[in-house]
Amino acid sequence: MTFDARTIAKDFPILSRTIRDGKRLVYLDSGATSQKPNVVIDAESDFYRLHNAAVHRGAHQLAEEATDAYEGARSIVANFLNADIDEVVFTKSATESLNLIAYAMGNAQIGNRFHLKAGDSIVVTEMEHHANLIPWQQLAARTGATLKWLSVTAEGRLDLSNLDSLVDASTKVVALTHQSNVLGTINPLEDITRRAHEVGAVVVLDACQSVPHMPTDVKALDIDFLAFSGHKAVGPTGVGIFWGRADLLAELPPFLTGGSMIENVTMESATWAPAPRKFEAGVPNMAQAVGLGAALTYLSAIGMENIHQHEISLTKYLLEGLSAITDLRIIGPKTTDLRGGVVSFTLGDIHPHDLGQYLDSQGIAVRTGHHCAWPLTRKLGVPATTRASVYLYNTTDDLDALISGVHGAQKYFGR
Ligand code: ALA
Repeated sequence: MTFDARTIAKDFPILSRTIRDGKRLVYLDSGATSQKPNVVIDAESDFYRLHNAAVHRGAHQLAEEATDAYEGARSIVANFLNADIDEVVFTKSATESLNLIAYAMGNAQIGNRFHLKAGDSIVVTEMEHHANLIPWQQLAARTGATLKWLSVTAEGRLDLSNLDSLVDASTKVVALTHQSNVLGTINPLEDITRRAHEVGAVVVLDACQSVPHMPTDVKALDIDFLAFSGHKAVGPTGVGIFWGRADLLAELPPFLTGGSMIENVTMESATWAPAPRKFEAGVPNMAQAVGLGAALTYLSAIGMENIHQHEISLTKYLLEGLSAITDLRIIGPKTTDLRGGVVSFTLGDIHPHDLGQYLDSQGIAVRTGHHCAWPLTRKLGVPATTRASVYLYNTTDDLDALISGVHGAQKYFGR
């Protein structure tokens, strides 16, 4: 199919509304959450309208239909990631997925490969957003393990010069983002996964900003675990994915316990169902999972490589347009080399919150602040930035609106 962002935008009802006294909505905040196409809204509401029942429980027709829809969605996610179906766990968010593995590791007993103790280390990077930092900080605090991190260079790339000494025999986990939500940097994973596996550590990939925007093949990436959220991938809120290699999920203890995740229960103890059910306690977020299935089917029909190429060309256009503005400083790589469609910047001494408010008055939605990655923005000496993030429905018209909005702000604030 030919890629046409204008035609695609018509699938997203919210994009045709106006805001702030009749201005066209220019939505450049998909890094925070994406908008939803009709097929996703319909899939979620049709589930409630026609098929709603608790999955994996009832003997009645609705329970059967709901289970088929829910498991069908799991199969769609597995195909999307080139994973096996039993490796895909539905959670409520990427944040929950990352907490799941961190808490599950904390539950591992001596003798389990995931057991952590003093003397072990967990390696993260300085560009993690809080969801892939704080769970590891907390796991280190609970187990006595040491948290270490790869630094970020002034250009916004990972400094891998000390990779081999930082990731050593003590390392049990290397957890990092695939694409930074502040810098747009796409991390080269090959050296990191090679080194982690050399020392017997597992690699946990926070793919919140990559899975929605480029083709993902968990086998080719040679990672062990992956997390992403549905709502950033044109899917509903309230659903995330936790993927893990089958052999590792078999050994990983559960995080949440309760109904559905058990094999047998007595008054004194319980045994666990195999993955993925071991990690899905309680009645799950069925309608949202089904909505996510519709979202990934929609993205696949357009083609993830087409989406990626579209975003690269928008990013190039935006980087060039913004770079020409006096006093504007791009925070992150300035070329599209290993870089996605998230562009953060500062504008002289205009505070990002003031700039964000001015842009909003023109109908332009961007995110401002530390973007839930406070250590990173501190390290770069810019406690807050303005961030534009693009997706499949954006066009160069949106970027022209942003660029002229930034010029307008300079005039408005007398700069
Ligand atoms: N991590 C999300 C963002 O970057 C919330 O906006």
